[in-house]
Amino acid sequence: MHPTDLIAASKTLEVDALAKKLISEGKDVVNLTAGEPDFPTPRPIVEKAIEALEKGYTKYTDSNGIPQLREAISRYLKNKKNVEFSPDEIVVSNGGKQSLFNAFASILDSGDEVILFAPLWVSYPAQIILSRGKPVVVKTKFENGFMPMKDELLSAVTENTRAIVVNSPNNPSGGIYDYETLKMIAQVANERGIFVITDEVYDDLVYEGMHKSMYGLVKEELLIYVNAFSKSHSMTGWRVGYVATKNKDVKKRISKIQSHVASNINTIAQYAAIAACETDNAYMVEEFKKRRAFVVSKAREYGIEFLEPKGAFYLFFKVNGDDEEFCKRLLAEKLVASVPGSAFEMPGFVRISFANSLEVLEKGTNRIREFMASFK
Ligand SMILES: Cc1ncc(COP(=O)(O)O)c(C=O)c1O
Repeated sequence: MHPTDLIAASKTLEVDALAKKLISEGKDVVNLTAGEPDFPTPRPIVEKAIEALEKGYTKYTDSNGIPQLREAISRYLKNKKNVEFSPDEIVVSNGGKQSLFNAFASILDSGDEVILFAPLWVSYPAQIILSRGKPVVVKTKFENGFMPMKDELLSAVTENTRAIVVNSPNNPSGGIYDYETLKMIAQVANERGIFVITDEVYDDLVYEGMHKSMYGLVKEELLIYVNAFSKSHSMTGWRVGYVATKNKDVKKRISKIQSHVASNINTIAQYAAIAACETDNAYMVEEFKKRRAFVVSKAREYGIEFLEPKGAFYLFFKVNGDDEEFCKRLLAEKLVASVPGSAFEMPGFVRISFANSLEVLEKGTNRIREFMASFK
């Protein structure tokens, strides 16, 4: 069987498409499925793109990304995140998504296993399968804030384990792994020579405490670091992400994959991303904080069980009964679009996004309250 026959289309995009269809039919849908900030891309970034167009920067570039952008990313990572990669250790790709795919494709061979912690982002298993690997899902517990425990991780490790994926801040839970948990994962990986692919695309969107990277905890040759401007700078449509590693062999493979699959990413977007490295996004984080406080207060008021989101822009809450039925009926009866936890391999939960205005969130949460009274 071909690997693509083993994967399903992205469930989150499916729900989003259904909601958009209802909207196009004129229905008053409150769409809480969005995996993207609702702010416009900051003006300095847009201006840099216009300038690139006017200067005629519209041709192929180095497939790793233009040196100016890789230099800017290297500086930005060091100054803002205390993460150090030289421009030669960075490959720019089409969003965090392609960076992750490049990472899996560069290290996996037939039958290699990759440990994922559920709830998990929908594309990891698909990308691993496409790279001929095998996803091994470790289910974390709500009671533990969806953080993996050492015995849970160890019970999933086999001689075929090639990598562990860490996603903190987490989509869909909004959770952040504490330092002890990050260290525990790093220790297991370091002792057994397992790669850690760290997906830190939500690292700027942290509302409590500080983001802690896997960088510095995992041995240099085992760490594959992924980030993107999509969520941090409201640039989802520009498709600029990057993967960085100090492992020279892995880096070489990633460069080869990038060059044969896509060549460089859009040249204009690369110039724009240089400006992103210098654009302050604190105002977005402040706005998200207000929205988070709003949805959290509503969830408390309604007596919903949920994980208090410390990062990203999602509220992941428990439902009584089948989550897929909950989401289908919530959309049909109250015109609120949400994503079932099953899409993230965590049935019994539902994800709503607070990357929406307070007005929209007010309307959405009111409708959810009315609906919950009838969903038993
Ligand atoms: C956890 C996680 N990783 C990676 C991505 C990919 O982001 P990008 O739009 O940069 O490809 C997303 C997007 O939803 C995500 O939620």
